[in-house]
Amino acid sequence: MYQKFDVIIIGAGGAGLMAAMQLPNASVAVLTKVYPTRSHTGAAQGGVAAALGNQEEDHWKWHMYDTVKGGDYLVDQPAAEILARDAIDAVYELEHRGLPFNRTPDGRIDQRRFGGHTRNFGEGPVRRSCYAADRTGHMILQTMYQSSIKNQVRFFNEFLVLDLIFNEGRACGVVAMEIRSGEIHTFHAKAVMFATGGYGRAWRVTSNAFACMGDGMSIAYRRGIPLQDMEMYQFHPTGIYKVGVLLSEAARGEGGKLLNDKGEYFMERYMPTLKDLAPRDIVSRCIVQEVNEGRGIDGKDYVYLDVRHLGAKAIAEKLPDITDFARNYLGVEPITEPVPIQPTAHYAMGGIPTDLDGRVVIDPQWTPMPGFYAAGEVACVSVHGANRLGTNSLVDLIVFGRRAGKDMARFIAENDHAPLPENPEAYSRDMLDRLLDKGKSSGGESAARIRSTLQNEMNDKVFVEREEKGMLSALDTLDGLQDAYKKIQLQDKGKRFNTELVEAIELGFLLDCAEATIHGAIARKESRGAHYRLDYTKRDDTNWLKHTLAYKGEKAHDVRLDYKDVVLVDDPIFKPKERKY
Ligand code: FUM
Repeated sequence: MYQKFDVIIIGAGGAGLMAAMQLPNASVAVLTKVYPTRSHTGAAQGGVAAALGNQEEDHWKWHMYDTVKGGDYLVDQPAAEILARDAIDAVYELEHRGLPFNRTPDGRIDQRRFGGHTRNFGEGPVRRSCYAADRTGHMILQTMYQSSIKNQVRFFNEFLVLDLIFNEGRACGVVAMEIRSGEIHTFHAKAVMFATGGYGRAWRVTSNAFACMGDGMSIAYRRGIPLQDMEMYQFHPTGIYKVGVLLSEAARGEGGKLLNDKGEYFMERYMPTLKDLAPRDIVSRCIVQEVNEGRGIDGKDYVYLDVRHLGAKAIAEKLPDITDFARNYLGVEPITEPVPIQPTAHYAMGGIPTDLDGRVVIDPQWTPMPGFYAAGEVACVSVHGANRLGTNSLVDLIVFGRRAGKDMARFIAENDHAPLPENPEAYSRDMLDRLLDKGKSSGGESAARIRSTLQNEMNDKVFVEREEKGMLSALDTLDGLQDAYKKIQLQDKGKRFNTELVEAIELGFLLDCAEATIHGAIARKESRGAHYRLDYTKRDDTNWLKHTLAYKGEKAHDVRLDYKDVVLVDDPIFKPKERKY
């Protein structure tokens, strides 16, 4: 099947829909693996940061400072400036589109505290997160989906993208499989945007939805686009023990605290100023340290999140979803009992490198790939550096999704469709034939075995704390899994709703993302933000104040690493310094 549009957007989460809404006069198709309102943006709970100053004094420059410092100075500072400045406008745009934010008594958008967000350049916590109870992402999705429908955006639900098509030095479309029928479709476009989210399913314990398999990152990587800073992967401190489902940082923003086996609110000892609202990389490391030093609950690998002192009314009004999660997944009643938690794989700070307008760039010289855009978690515009602050993900989606949408509007006005190459579906059809065992695979391997081995290796060896020996061993395992992947044998050879096939394709994406992550992490011989190495415990700005670019090599298991300077602004307040809180 052949379809032609001005713009194709892959992914119906916050970034994709925000971009779609900027293109009212274009023909726009959004392709999504899941029903749009089931996109993973819906799992974002605690809020979206913007220096509105509705509860107390705040300034975009304080927000920028926190973002740069929270990211352990691996942040491109002009991008952080745009994030913090534009957040204010973008939040009001959402309000005007109908998002039901919680309100102050005088009717303005209410704001709550979140980790690492401070007043006056680090003096103490500030109320910056605009929220809709603990289901802010869900409300964003619902609001944007309605707006997109009103704008006549065409949705292709349950389409799995297999490949990105280039010709004449431009992106000109994608190949996708309709999951319902198994049919292959070629989508031809002037501009293509990836907004496919992250790859948290590479870890055993994760807050990410089943769909978060790194599709967009892998597809770009296979086509020669580098992946940036993949070693910077965030572990959210409070995932439900063993399950990984998120218990929002909003719980701590509202006053919740972490408790160890000795009954001690231990963050007060590590971080006397910000306490439980220190940035996530720090809080996750403190939990791991408590566990390693024998103060996990009953000597096990978890601690408690305690919200009992907030009272039943505040819990019901401000944290309804996460209290239900604790009841449903653990059988724990948060009003009267502390909740078992552990760090959970949450968010990729790295991804497909872009400039400030969401245009994908392919090398350290910032050369753009015309017609190819990315925004949201799949992308790395480098606002999060080595550690993202809570609530800055939703800001990233709406600010850079919007900028990408506006730039695509300009691009499609100035350019015609580039012609498709000959036989654009060849690569995808070959991949499907191989997986369906039409003559090439010797078979016998199970996708489930490969996936769970990968997840265990990543959780055990590429986690909150890591070191060379463990990562080399994880890489060795990964090489073996990549070889095994070539021998996957599916039971279901059918076309209709072949979820076994879908999972096998997604597993290939996940392996690519893990490959770039481990290679980048082994090479970066320092500790910075979420990348904490037991064998190199100090940050090293002399050698490592730079972004990693990982390129897929020609041969199996080959990865080429290159590096790109971090972009700083000329203002002493943002000069990299030791990160003290
Ligand atoms: O804790 C949370 O509500 C997560 C927010 C985020 O990752 O930004």
